[in-house]
Amino acid sequence: MQGVMVVDIVSVGVVGGGLMGAGIAEVCARAGLDVIVREVTDAAAQVARQRVAGSLDRAVGRGKLAAGDAEATLGRIRFTTAFEDLTDVGLAIEAVAEDEAVKLEVFAQLDAALARPDALLASNTSSIPIMKLAMATGRPEQVVGIHFFNPVPVLPLVEMVTSLVTRPEVVADAEAFVVGVLGKTVIRSSDRAGFVVNALLVPYLLSAVRMLESGFATAADIDQGMVLGCAHPMGPLRLADLIGLDTVTAIAQSMYQEFREPLYSPPPLLMRMVSAGLLGRKSGRGFHAYA
Ligand code: CAA
Repeated sequence: MQGVMVVDIVSVGVVGGGLMGAGIAEVCARAGLDVIVREVTDAAAQVARQRVAGSLDRAVGRGKLAAGDAEATLGRIRFTTAFEDLTDVGLAIEAVAEDEAVKLEVFAQLDAALARPDALLASNTSSIPIMKLAMATGRPEQVVGIHFFNPVPVLPLVEMVTSLVTRPEVVADAEAFVVGVLGKTVIRSSDRAGFVVNALLVPYLLSAVRMLESGFATAADIDQGMVLGCAHPMGPLRLADLIGLDTVTAIAQSMYQEFREPLYSPPPLLMRMVSAGLLGRKSGRGFHAYA
């Protein structure tokens, strides 16, 4: 599958500069591509830029990147609020909030903005059907799921998700790009809510929340149990905090809507925390507190 890239991808558009969008922009720019990140406001674009700069600083601090390369990487990323700036990209990756209505609107706007007929339109969704997003465009066969994992610069996996109508050449190009250019490892999934990883991960995270909610163990002990007992890099509640409790809830709701499986239903504690703005690491407090 590698090396069959038909579409010429020298510049990538990323819609959304949050945790995932900023990470995707960073890995694309680190691979030498020109990247345009579209955010809704100048202030949000500025925050996205700071997010990328902070991650690059961390990479330099950890000895993963030379300081000069970090500066060059940031120099390859342009931040904008205009969809029209994405006109000439060969690949656009949508990474906005896990909200179907918002994503549908983004896909309609991308469809209007992208001029190249061979452009790939990708979504980083964790759980919303690619088929639905594809049908918001006039070119559903060009739409594919390219699902990254957080933190994007660190985790090597990408799930490649094809809808019922995605053209095989589009999948081949997307996979050649992700593997050959970004250096990630691909697993393939068909288009069902949660794909492979979240179908396994989300019930586990929700079980940890239910365990805390029922009062039979503390957050610290639940997390320590899985770190020391199963050698996971972090426990489930800290991981939920890393992903973002709003995102975990949204993924669980999409999965529940699709399968009606009680295991996927978000527990009340999780929903109350989202209502309270306790969203995890990004808001400073979730199941744990962050400086
Ligand atoms: N760029 C490149 N490398 C970086 C980096 C950056 N910005 N930041 C950190 N790293 C590297 C570090 O150099 C280090 O590598 P070495 O071990 O080779 O030195 C490694 O990443 C770990 O970094 P740290 O030591 O700073 O941090 P840590 O050991 O505390 O690990 C963690 C932090 C990577 C987040 C780790 O705890 C982890 O992998 N946790 C699990 C994360 C996970 O499961 N994510 C999936 C979430 S699910 C998802 O995203 C999908 C969805 O749809 C919800």
